[in-house]
Amino acid sequence: MNPVKLKEGVYWVGEIDWELRNFHGYSTQRGSTYNAYLILDEKITLIDTVRSYLFDKMMKRLSSLIDPSHIHYIVSNHVEMDHSGSLPLLMKIAKNATIITSPHGQKGLQAHYKKNDWNFKVVKSDETVSLGRKNMKFVLTPLVHWPDNMVSYLEEDRILFSNDAFGQHIASSERFDDEYPLGIVIDEAEKYYANIVLPYSSQVQKAMDAVTPLTIDMIAPSHGIVWRSHGKTIVEEYKKWASNQVDNKCLIIYDTMWKSTEKIANAVQEAFESQGIPVKMANLGHSHISDIIADVLTTRFICVGSPTLNSNMLPTVAGFLTYLKGLSPKNRIGLAFGSYGWGGQAVSHVENALKECGFKMMESIKVQYIPDETQLEEIFNKLKQEITMNESVLNKLPIEAQA
Ligand code: FEO
Repeated sequence: MNPVKLKEGVYWVGEIDWELRNFHGYSTQRGSTYNAYLILDEKITLIDTVRSYLFDKMMKRLSSLIDPSHIHYIVSNHVEMDHSGSLPLLMKIAKNATIITSPHGQKGLQAHYKKNDWNFKVVKSDETVSLGRKNMKFVLTPLVHWPDNMVSYLEEDRILFSNDAFGQHIASSERFDDEYPLGIVIDEAEKYYANIVLPYSSQVQKAMDAVTPLTIDMIAPSHGIVWRSHGKTIVEEYKKWASNQVDNKCLIIYDTMWKSTEKIANAVQEAFESQGIPVKMANLGHSHISDIIADVLTTRFICVGSPTLNSNMLPTVAGFLTYLKGLSPKNRIGLAFGSYGWGGQAVSHVENALKECGFKMMESIKVQYIPDETQLEEIFNKLKQEITMNESVLNKLPIEAQA
């Protein structure tokens, strides 16, 4: 694939990872891209690189436009190795290049690659560097996704190189949001936000404030599709996700041994649906946790069920709860449920884990052996009442407090 022109003298020169199916535990069914961008100016500038195993392919693309030894600046917006992994190889060729990065970026790159002979230009937030005819402004966006993150803004072309923010894991020959089904791009951006950016939502809000004064024609993230026609849409979505606004929906996540916990899950589903609340079910035996988290992002009621196995919850449920806790979604209402044979410890373990997430809890549901029709009806009726109670409490709150 040839370099792709974004604007006059600005090219995508990244690489497509068609085979990627696991990105540090995140399932990437559509693969991904590592987006590097080249600016042809008096000072030839490369923004980010690709994973080290794709270095040769990136160099082939770069070499079709320039002699890579002539690169003057390499902007490292983020130390994580999906973007910096090719730096050591590239710096052997672009020997005189200066790496522009944040203060944490310099420390991180030196700690990763142990190179004391690299030239650095460390930038502050809002600092501008002249590339010749065009100017590049840098805005530090710490913790979107690591402490070193920053974004770069090419002033004359009004392109924001946003690194991880606004990215999606999509491998495709298409580079722009008006060339690819928009619903899929938004869904993948949502999954990306939920799995990568969610714990840093307050930092995302600060970063959004910092870039709001910029006039932006194009958002060029470091993964996936470039936003040139629907930039406003993704910015609005980010504002919603970053503010932890949730919809009045219910997500039931469970695993089951002999289908008893599944029976309770079905009763829970009916109770929520009877109150007009849409429900989505996710059996951890079949669903990947990174897909479930994408639904957690906008869902108010999070119900988690597990039978008891060896005095504990099932490992699939424990894995999900560990992942959930790390991502720190806020303002959720939780419910723990499950069946058991004798000890029945799983439900209290689930309840405690959801409390540790900071969720407001509904009364847990626990049934010995196989729930019969009478028990399932009791669960349905009791839960229906509790949902109504929660609803009336929520309805009395101002909208911001409901979020
Ligand atoms: Fe795409 Fe945080 O790296």
